[in-house]
Amino acid sequence: MNSFGVRFKFTSFGESHGQAIGCVVDGMPAGVKFDFDLLQEMLNKRKPGQNSFSTPRKEEDKAQVLSGVFEGYTTGAPISIIIMNENTRSKDYEKDVFRPAHADFTYYHKYGIRDYRGGGRSSARESAARVAAGALACMLLREFDIEVVSGVFGVGKIDSCLSSDEFDFDHAKNSEVFALDQNLEQSFKDEILKAKKAKNSIGARVFTRVKNPIKGLGEPLYDKLDSKLAHAIMGVNAVKAIEIGSGIQSTYMYGSENNDELKNDRFLSNHSGGVLGGISNGDFIDIKTYFKPTPSIFLPQQTQNIQGENIIYELKGRHDPCVGIRGSVVVNAMVAICIADALLLNASSNLNNLKQIYKKNK
Ligand SMILES: Cc1cc2nc3c(=O)[nH]c(=O)nc-3n(C[C@H](O)[C@H](O)[C@H](O)COP(=O)(O)O)c2cc1C
Repeated sequence: MNSFGVRFKFTSFGESHGQAIGCVVDGMPAGVKFDFDLLQEMLNKRKPGQNSFSTPRKEEDKAQVLSGVFEGYTTGAPISIIIMNENTRSKDYEKDVFRPAHADFTYYHKYGIRDYRGGGRSSARESAARVAAGALACMLLREFDIEVVSGVFGVGKIDSCLSSDEFDFDHAKNSEVFALDQNLEQSFKDEILKAKKAKNSIGARVFTRVKNPIKGLGEPLYDKLDSKLAHAIMGVNAVKAIEIGSGIQSTYMYGSENNDELKNDRFLSNHSGGVLGGISNGDFIDIKTYFKPTPSIFLPQQTQNIQGENIIYELKGRHDPCVGIRGSVVVNAMVAICIADALLLNASSNLNNLKQIYKKNK
């Protein structure tokens, strides 16, 4: 559907070439200091048309906050944020042709109606709304010193050899391709530009870390934290897989290699990625996300049109050569939303928590 979350819940609206996109966030507690600069900064990181590693579609993505904030603080009412679409070019899109690997095909067959303009609702233009909701989640998490950081550790066939503890999140923040490994910044850029020049696209891999998570986040059994994270991240366009902690690698290990031993109230390693039994254990929550290459490429490809005819299609228009780059910002936002939701849900998980809240307020 178009909503995500239980206590911290957002609904997104809008299409790629409609008038606007946006979100309504319900469940943000009252009294959180509203940081408009953070909201705009996160949107700016995702916004298109900033450099040659993203689509040339230039959008300002200026957020307007319509409700739920008064005199600089959240009021507990739904917060609605709207972002206008200003640089649409619908004539670039064929009314009747399905782009290979794009959701044009499945949306048409599911709904029987087609907003072909920029992919309509299936376009990742919608992901700006997720980033706006994610910024609100970050404002809440900040109050608990929880921070979510992300960056790119692999593009195409190039992967960083660094361990996750060596990733440079500060470098990634200011890198045009959000590279977590300074030494690979140029190689990542070269790979993307090589694919772009060849009228092609390329896949990428993203690492996300939740710093300083509180122990106890996650609602067993059907809303385990890792399953919620997977739900949130797999819902981002073009994500094909995620891993928590050592993920797939742990299936090649002995228990003695994979087990995170405990000493002096600390884990000596973090193969679990900070989640045990669907509940955060207080260690970093580490997630890898795998993005496929952008479906829209400019090479001739076989496809079909709405009439069912086989055709050779050479697409025109503006597209990201590597969606994993801007996608990393969206993943970061979705993780923040998951953690904010888990934080609010956990407040009523045991009597002590509840007593602390109500006794203090008596
Ligand atoms: C930030 C971001 C930007 C994207 N930009 C494009 C794009 O310019 N062209 C395109 O064909 N797909 C783009 N995509 C991916 C498609 O939206 C997506 O692959 C498509 O809807 C099919 O869905 P699926 O890959 O999740 O199965 C983008 C994805 C993200 C996360």
